[in-house]
Amino acid sequence: MKVLVLHGPNLNRLGSRETSVYGDRTLEQVNAVISKEAGDLGLEIEIHQTAREGEIIERLHSAIGSVDGVVLNPAAYSHTSRAIADAIRAVPYPVIEVHLSNIHAREPWRRRSVTAEAAKGIVAGFGADSYVAALRLLKGLIS
Ligand code: DQA
Repeated sequence: MKVLVLHGPNLNRLGSRETSVYGDRTLEQVNAVISKEAGDLGLEIEIHQTAREGEIIERLHSAIGSVDGVVLNPAAYSHTSRAIADAIRAVPYPVIEVHLSNIHAREPWRRRSVTAEAAKGIVAGFGADSYVAALRLLKGLIS
């Protein structure tokens, strides 16, 4: 079983960006947590980060037929991107949305995720463990 983890814009700045909100782990360290959990679950994993909305959409499309599910942190695109939401609706595999922070406890504009409306479900507020929980949930869905 193969899973793609997609990180959206600004997540490459983890570790130095708003550490009181996102913690002090770098993206590399978060990816190490993700890779370890995937290994423990027996999942093959691919991880990619991009700042570009179109690239997230293209990656979702090109993953058809090669992955069994996707864990997606669309970052700020969560709150705006109907194009990513439509891409999630246009793929056959389950997509679980994750956020490091609890978006429902933050600024009002962050409390709505239009992409989550298209996802199978959402895990938010647990830092790197949001990805760990999403991988476990995804494994249950695709097994
Ligand atoms: C985030 C939450 C978003 O609101 C924000 O724009 C991000 C990170 C999170 O993981 O908590 O960049 O997706």
